[in-house]
Amino acid sequence: MKALLLATALAMTAAMATTPVRADANLARSKNCLECHNVDKEITGPSFTAVAKRYKRVPNAEQIVAEKIKKGCADHWGSNVMPPAGMGAWKVSDGEAKKLAHWILGL
Ligand code: HEC
Repeated sequence: MKALLLATALAMTAAMATTPVRADANLARSKNCLECHNVDKEITGPSFTAVAKRYKRVPNAEQIVAEKIKKGCADHWGSNVMPPAGMGAWKVSDGEAKKLAHWILGL
């Protein structure tokens, strides 16, 4: 009985630890980011794993990327442009942009 309880507690801890990642993938989906981005494949925009790699050694990466998510960007990866949030079909708050940046950079 004790072992079963422990196993249940461990399973719950594991589920809680993975929840934020899934929640942010859902957030990306709900904000239409995944129409132009894929986690590990380049489509219209760069893959999020490529973004994470590029910013690995950049100080304040999370802040810079959150800003780009809000303001859009161009000429950084290729000839495609990311329109600013708010102009497209998606709108992100500062908090959401930070959450998305944190998730992307942790991939
Ligand atoms: C209309 C297509 C489109 C949508 C929608 C879109 N992006 Fe992008 N995104 C791009 C393109 C294209 C680039 C590359 C622009 C460049 O070369 O600078 C890019 C670049 C990025 C980068 C890299 C920034 C950098 O500094 O290198 C991040 C991070 C990013 N997008 C996150 C997001 C998130 C999060 C969302 C959803 C809120 C989103 N994008 C929605 C097209 C899109």
